[in-house]
Amino acid sequence: MQTAYTKDELRSYLAPVRGNRIVLVPTMGALHEGHATLLRQARQLAGEEGVVVASVFLNPVQFDNAGDLATYPKTPEQDLEICESCGVDVVFMPTPDIMYCADRSITLEETHLSTVLCGASRPGHFAGVCLVVNKLFNLVQPTDAIFGKKDYQQLAILRRMVRDLDMPITLHGAEIVREADGLALSSRNVRLTPEHRAAAPIIRKSLLAAAEVYAAGAAVEAICAQVRAELESVPGVRCDYVELVDAVTLHALSTPDSLALLAVAAWFGDVRLIDNIELSRS
Ligand code: PAF
Repeated sequence: MQTAYTKDELRSYLAPVRGNRIVLVPTMGALHEGHATLLRQARQLAGEEGVVVASVFLNPVQFDNAGDLATYPKTPEQDLEICESCGVDVVFMPTPDIMYCADRSITLEETHLSTVLCGASRPGHFAGVCLVVNKLFNLVQPTDAIFGKKDYQQLAILRRMVRDLDMPITLHGAEIVREADGLALSSRNVRLTPEHRAAAPIIRKSLLAAAEVYAAGAAVEAICAQVRAELESVPGVRCDYVELVDAVTLHALSTPDSLALLAVAAWFGDVRLIDNIELSRS
């Protein structure tokens, strides 16, 4: 496995392998089993002839909260070991000053899907994601890229970016990887207090309970209120949002039979966790 710290090192590595399938897994580091699953999927998709590229870059431009950026876990040595063990060919690990020019002045904003859910409470977040992913796509020129469905809205927005900007890249959504108790894996989980870590599986439990009442025909408002009440029954937990939306448009359900998404963001103390579940009535 090679590590590229600069754009030139990355381009030199990729020049001779152009023409093969190139599968990119963008990450912000602090890799865990969820990322490892994406990386193994990438290896499988690329096959023996293809190339797997992982990027490890804590993108400052997508953080709307300086404290969140400062406390985001950083484990570069372990990240490289995980990449190696998952069959990655090259890891791109730039610093912010390598990635961005100091006087950068181009922004890239999706204006429909990003106005709701996390976009409503994290101004600028998805513009930062689109910018960095666009840059990674330009640098790597992958044939395929894989993103986790825990960040469901991110995946929907990136699909829109690829579609609207005619990028010749196939995006793959990977299922959420969970702890045995149901908590979705996240780099932020290590920051939970022991009490909140013990309570956090309530997110998954409340989403599963909501899926049942949704299938039985319960009203959207009642379902969201129930999930919110369950989560906020835990001391120190405050919901940012609990919303049941159309899984494609991320706005209000157009027909009762559309595939729906129940998405949650909740503060466990000062740690913001997200999770979601796809729901259908048919
Ligand atoms: O999902 C993430 O880890 C980040 O938003 C991404 C896609 C790597 C862009 O920085």
